[in-house]
Parts: sequence; C-alpha cells; structure tokens
Amino acid sequence: MNDLTTNVDHYLEAQSKLDLLRFITCGSVDDGKSTLIGRMLYEAHLIFEDQVAALKNESRHHGTQGGDIDFALLVDGLAAEREQGITIDVAYRFFATDHRKFIVADTPGHEQYTRNMATGASTADVAVILVDAHNGVLTQTRRHSFICSLLGIRHVALAVNKMDLVKFDQAVFESIVESYRDFARKLSFEHITAMPVSALDGDNVVTRSAKTPWYSGPTLIGFLETAKAHDAVREQSFRMPVQWVNRPDRTFRGFSGTVVSGEVTLGDEVRILPSGEVASVEDIVLYTDRLTSAATDQAVTLCLDREVDCSRGDLIVAANNPAEVADQFEVSLVWMDQEPGHHGRAYWLKTGTTRVNATITNIKYKYNVNTLEHLSTGNLALNDIAEATLSLDRGVAFEPYATNRALGSFVLIDRFSNQTVAAGMINFALRRAKNIHRQKLAIDKAARESLNGHKARVLWFTGLSGAGKSSIADALEQRLHERGVRTYILDGDNIRHGLNQDLGFSDDDRIENIRRVAEVAKLMVDAGIVVLTAFISPFRAERDMARRLMDEGEFVEIFVDTPLEEAERRDTKGLYAKARRGELPNFTGVGSDYEAPENPELHLRAGIQSIDVCVQEILDYLDSPHVHSDQIQTS
Ligand code: ADX
Repeated sequence: MNDLTTNVDHYLEAQSKLDLLRFITCGSVDDGKSTLIGRMLYEAHLIFEDQVAALKNESRHHGTQGGDIDFALLVDGLAAEREQGITIDVAYRFFATDHRKFIVADTPGHEQYTRNMATGASTADVAVILVDAHNGVLTQTRRHSFICSLLGIRHVALAVNKMDLVKFDQAVFESIVESYRDFARKLSFEHITAMPVSALDGDNVVTRSAKTPWYSGPTLIGFLETAKAHDAVREQSFRMPVQWVNRPDRTFRGFSGTVVSGEVTLGDEVRILPSGEVASVEDIVLYTDRLTSAATDQAVTLCLDREVDCSRGDLIVAANNPAEVADQFEVSLVWMDQEPGHHGRAYWLKTGTTRVNATITNIKYKYNVNTLEHLSTGNLALNDIAEATLSLDRGVAFEPYATNRALGSFVLIDRFSNQTVAAGMINFALRRAKNIHRQKLAIDKAARESLNGHKARVLWFTGLSGAGKSSIADALEQRLHERGVRTYILDGDNIRHGLNQDLGFSDDDRIENIRRVAEVAKLMVDAGIVVLTAFISPFRAERDMARRLMDEGEFVEIFVDTPLEEAERRDTKGLYAKARRGELPNFTGVGSDYEAPENPELHLRAGIQSIDVCVQEILDYLDSPHVHSDQIQTS
C-alpha cells in the first residue's frame, strides 16, 4: 500500500512540473510493441508492486524463465479487456520519468486497425516504429511510417527490437536501418534516430546496454526525453470552432468551443466564417468566471458586442487574419472501410464540429505503400492511401493540415451505414472553387416553367433490367405529351451509346453513369422540362445524390418493382440467360447487387400490374393535391 502511495505521489509530482510529449508506437503484430510499452511503464515505476507480483505469477504459467516478467501480458491483458468493453479504439497511457511526462497512444498492430493507428498518430509528436530484428522492414512497417508522415509526425525513433535474437549483431542492425532510411527518404520525416533494443531484456530502453558497445546513440527513453514536441499552434492566429450556441435566457448569447490556435483577448475584433461577419469580443466566460483572454486548448464561451449569424460548425477567427473558406479540396485519404470508396460517390464529411456533403470528384492516384509509386485507380480498398479531390455542397472554413491539424483533418462517413470510412487531411483548396462563380442569368427556371405552363420534374425510374422502366416511361411520356407537357426521356440503353459510351458495368462505372445522368437531368429541369430517367441505378447512394441535386419536391423516385424471378422469366433481351451462363459478369441481380429504394415516392408492382395501371398510378400521384397545386397537369 505504501509503495502504491509513493508511486502515485511520484507520478503526480512529476506530472505537475514537466513538459509533455505525445508519442505513438507502431509495428506489426509480433514486433514486441506491448512488451516495449510494458517495459517503459515498469521502468518508470508505474506498475505497482502488487501488479508485479501477479505478473510474475502469470508469466511463470506462460513459460517465461525464472522470475522474469512477461511485460506483454500487462498491456495485452488491457487490450483484451478493451476489445470486450467496446468503444475505445486507442488507449492513451500516461507516464512520467524524472525529466518529462508522456502520453503514449497504444494502438493494435493488426492490418485492420489502421484506423486506430491513424487516430493515434494525429495527435502524436513522435513515432516509435518497431521493427523485429529477425524480420526486418515489413509492408506494415512501411504503411505505418507513411501514415505517420502524412499525419505530420516529423521525428521518428526506429527501434530495432529483439536484438537478443540476432546476438546483438551490428551488421543486422545496420542493414535494417539502411533499408528503412532508403524507404523513408521519400517521406517527410526530419529526423530518424535508430536504436538497437531488446524490450524483453531492457537493452537500450532505459539503460545503455553492455551488449551493444558499437552503438553510441541514445536509449529509447533518453531519446523520448529530449525529442522535440510539435511546434505549438499557440503563436498562430486565433481560431475557435463553434461547438454550440449557448443561450440560457433571452439576454445571454454566447458561442462555446475550444480554442484550437492562437489567443483571444477582450475587445479583439473577430470574424465569423463562412458568413464573414465581424464583431468584437465583449466577454470571455469560463463557467462562472470572466476571463480577460483565452489561449489555445482552453474551452470557453465568447460573447460578442452585436448580433451575428453564427451557429454550430462555424469558425470564429481573428478578423485581421481570417482562415480561408472553400468547397473544393485536394486531400490525402486513408481508406478504413471494407466497403470500397468510389470516385463520384457522396459521403458525409465531418471536421471538428461541422458536417457537410462531400463527393469524391477524382481519385488522382493511390500509393504502393512499399515503393510509394503512384497507381491509378477508380476506387479505394481497405488501408489504401490516396490523393483525391473532394467537392463539398457548401463552403467551409479550413486550414491546411500542415498548418493546423485540428482544422485540416476530417473523416468521411458513409451516409447509410454511418460508419467512418476514411480519415483525411486537407492539402489545399482548389483555386477553381474560388474563381468559378455561377453565372446569374436573367431568364431562370421559374420563368421557363411559367412559359411551359407546368413545373419541371425528374421522374426517376429505378429497378432491375427488364423490370419495365423504359416501357412505362415510354407510355407515360405519350400521356404527358398529349397534355401539352414538355418532356424528355433519358434511357440507359440510349445514353450508353453516346454520352456514356466509355462506361461499362463495374460499380465505379455505374456510379459515374448515374452521376452524369443526374447532372444532365438537373440541366433539363433547369430548362423547365419534365425529365423521365430509365436506368437500373442500383445504388441508393447515387439515387440519393441525384435527389439532392434537385430542389425540394422536384425529384420523384419511382421504384419499378418487378421481382428478379419475373424479370428473368420475361428476359426480353436474353441477358439473364447469358448472365446465368456466365457470359455476362456483373449483371444486376445475378453478379451485381440491386439496392431497392427504402422510401420511394412511388412503388409500382410492375411484376403483377400492367403498364397502363402503372402509368395511371404515376399520373394520379402527379395530379394529387400533395404534389403542389401548380403541378404538371395542364389540362
Ligand atoms: S446502371 O446500372 O448503370 O444504371 P443502365 O440502366 O445504364 O445500368 O444500363 C442497363 C442496361 O444495360 C440493361 O437494361 C441491359 O440492357 C444492359 N446491360 C448490359 N450489361 C449489363 C450488366 N452487366 N448489368 C446490367 N445491365 C446490363
């Protein structure tokens, strides 16, 4: 009990006086990461006596020699607990030596845990990259190093571990270091400090090892005690993302958030982004206290001297040095989902406090993580690292990741599963975003609609091949035409002979097919026309994207629901038979998925109802009162 108290005192006392270094340990599964962290905690006297006794006991059961401790048991035990206890992806461990305090991000090493690794690296000053002296530099070592470099880590300790297994052979050490340096030349590290260690025996971890007389560099702890922490953002201009608008009563209105860079003082002029409105700071509130200034990392509430338009997700910045606002970015992405990421697909983009729609407009290339060569690709698979461009549906205030980690990083979230699918870093805004302004024209959609005598619409038919989309659209168009409605049909088979003749039936190509069709449909709606589109359009994400392009009420999703068996029985084009014979890969319903609409405006039972009945159902819908009064019918 006394030991425990002494240790806690030691820790607390050390913590209060010392500066802080955050680091991450990376390595493959068996590189000895857990043993190393366990060893450091032990050497820093953070494993208490009762734990040591228990570990000694357990280690004996695991076959460790004599009274030695298997340090991996300590950390792995916690990791296993964590996996059962869900939620936490990254465990942050705190410890201190006499010279510094540390936070180490402990992340699992398996390939599928790249996500956790990236999370840990995004706040780290230094990376400790473990390599097993037996195995040398592996693909996983390179991938993790690359992610560390992308996430802004500039200082690396290359710990060549398990040196005891290679008899502390200098030649083995040097050849590993050389091969690592050769790879890392293409990364943006400033310093790589290599050290031969044995986490198991403690060589060169805290104390210099007698077994490596040929090594004159620092021990691992020695390195960590002197490594440079990240350049502070304190000196930069003031930025605070608004977490929430605090309005407990009519008289008080404040904007709460955490200062992510710089400092703000009473009376300072600030600007709200993206609106650009300016005000000055009247009050800085922390609970019940009133402060005269607030610095980086402080969570405060700011009150301004006038009413401004400011809500959650906006950024409050120094008025004389505001951040940029843009809606098109060049970014780096680390793909973290089993589901591939596609060019042309829309996701939620979430930064600190904002969430906007973002479409991957271009995947410029992905990297071969072993050679850092650029590979062209249409999609992103689990663990891929790529350079891409994103288009957002509105401008956001940002800073490049290299300037400000908090304002330059984001995650992409799948709109349907709500999974985080990628971590990203903003490299820069595309100038295009600022320099291309929409041309304001005198004759607009409303004017064209009024000349036509009806509203513009998209009637978006979706369903399997052979479901009856084109036939129903054809019959419907005749009825609308008779009523004097200006119509046009965009049909899959026709468009694929012209505009989209370069596209096939891979997921990527289908996504691009629908993206182009949706954009064309939008132009036609703007021209005041009732557009009928007949495409399988198998994916919810793209139909949803098409919907979002249109104004409220303009998009009518029509599910032509002919079950697969019935479509296959009809097989009007003989394509199902071909697909079943294996001659048509990726045929929808056979080798490729169809995601049925969940909430279509119209659900036609086209497998059992005639074309005429289906057409009538659509006309009834368009004529019904809930489709606004001045709708399509003109008769
Ligand atoms: S979509 O999936 O991208 O929306 P689209 O509607 O343009 O498809 O084209 C579908 C038509 O292409 C089908 O009706 C069929 O005639 C033809 N086709 C040829 N190969 C395929 C395939 N592998 N999968 C689906 N349709 C195919």
